[in-house]
Amino acid sequence: MKKRRWGRLVALGITLAVLVPLGYLWATSLVPGEYDPARMGYADYGGGHAMAGHEHHGGASVADLTGPKTGTPDVDVTLVARQQKFQLASGETIDGYTLNGTSPGPLIRARVGDLVQVTLVNESVKDGATVHWHGIDVPNAEDGVAGVTQDAVPVGGKHVYRFTAEQAGTYWYHSHQVSSEEVKGGLFGTIVIAPATPGDVIAAIHTYDGKRTINGRTGTARVELPAGTTARVRVINTDNAILRVGLTGTPYKVVAVDGREVHGPTAVTAAYALPAGGRADLEAVVPAGGMRLVAGTPTLSLGIGPADPPTAELPGETVDLLTYGTPAPLGFDPGTADRNFEYRIGRRPGFLDGMPGLWWTINGHKFPDVPMFMVAEGDVVRMKISNTSGQAHPMHLHGHHAVVLSRNGVAATGSPWWVDTLEVGNKETYEIAFVADNPGLWMDHCHNLPHASEGLMTHLMYEGITTPYRVGGNSHNEPE
Ligand code: C2O
Ligand code: CU
Repeated sequence: MKKRRWGRLVALGITLAVLVPLGYLWATSLVPGEYDPARMGYADYGGGHAMAGHEHHGGASVADLTGPKTGTPDVDVTLVARQQKFQLASGETIDGYTLNGTSPGPLIRARVGDLVQVTLVNESVKDGATVHWHGIDVPNAEDGVAGVTQDAVPVGGKHVYRFTAEQAGTYWYHSHQVSSEEVKGGLFGTIVIAPATPGDVIAAIHTYDGKRTINGRTGTARVELPAGTTARVRVINTDNAILRVGLTGTPYKVVAVDGREVHGPTAVTAAYALPAGGRADLEAVVPAGGMRLVAGTPTLSLGIGPADPPTAELPGETVDLLTYGTPAPLGFDPGTADRNFEYRIGRRPGFLDGMPGLWWTINGHKFPDVPMFMVAEGDVVRMKISNTSGQAHPMHLHGHHAVVLSRNGVAATGSPWWVDTLEVGNKETYEIAFVADNPGLWMDHCHNLPHASEGLMTHLMYEGITTPYRVGGNSHNEPE
């Protein structure tokens, strides 16, 4: 009798010894129902100085960092967002999202110097929507991140974006509200800053409901171009995983990456590994027999030219941008950095917002207790991104382009390799550098969007910047 009671006490003791710390871990993992993205995590100054006045929040508000408020737009587009069943260009029915009735949404074209105005009207997207200009380094208030740079646009609402197109190149736009769902379901489109030329071909790759498409079309399609035309094939990966692409039937050059020209590109026949969110412009003179853009396998491809070329698998080799092209001045000296950050991606078991799981970590910390990378305007910033998480991560920094300095300790020797979206494979380490020249509060996250919603996201933050927006709360902002 006595023994039994003692035994029960021991059992209770053991149970408590397990449950109390678990309960503690559970409780401390809860993400507040509403939080200020400028005050999440902990400040990491990267070895630089915290500016006086930072704690007083004497700086600017995100809401004031807008594009030009006056002036007649050169490009004026309205995007009507709907949550609906729709048909892909190739006929399949998808239950997802459209912009102006289609997915991808309309191609927006602007020239360098144009004032671009886009009005997002949310007709029926229940969770709300925004438009983020992926790869365009717009002023912060135009960046389209719900809960960070604006409130999500509710059904019946609208939001106007205005910015000047500054850098020619291939970009895309997508919702940054519940983005892991809305982008997958089709709430995205393409934007090209360059005049239309006869050789310009857009190829946005997206997987709807398990069906991979080019420009919303499964299978193969044709773009009619005369032989001898210099074609510039703008390939955009709007999916969550890296994809090998390339032109078959002719050698080609990788003339731009992530909206930045490659210096001294040479002709290749290898494939190109395009990270999720990334873009590559592939250039070739159309041969008499035509050529083919292949996305993964030739069963998904675009025949380009006067004739339909035969299908061929992509070669096994892959273009390596670490050595591709020839060097050119960067315009700044990464050797004299004001900030040196580490962005170490790991993974460990625990709780995230009360959910048990294997969660991503940044510098050993789980979301929302992650480092906020603090900079001041004008800083030269170096960041070492390493990954021991067991999976690859396409890392995307908003508002800035960074140049790759090295991979796994091997210095880059080719063209300046500018990125906004960088694939960091498991067990890889990249060093990148950039100039902090665009004040604001900027997302810095994995573009495998479910990973971001699982906590692989933080911010680059300019000291003194505040935001009136909140994640969660009454506005139901949920950027990831
Ligand atoms: Cu293409 Cu933070 O997104
Ligand atoms: Cu990831």
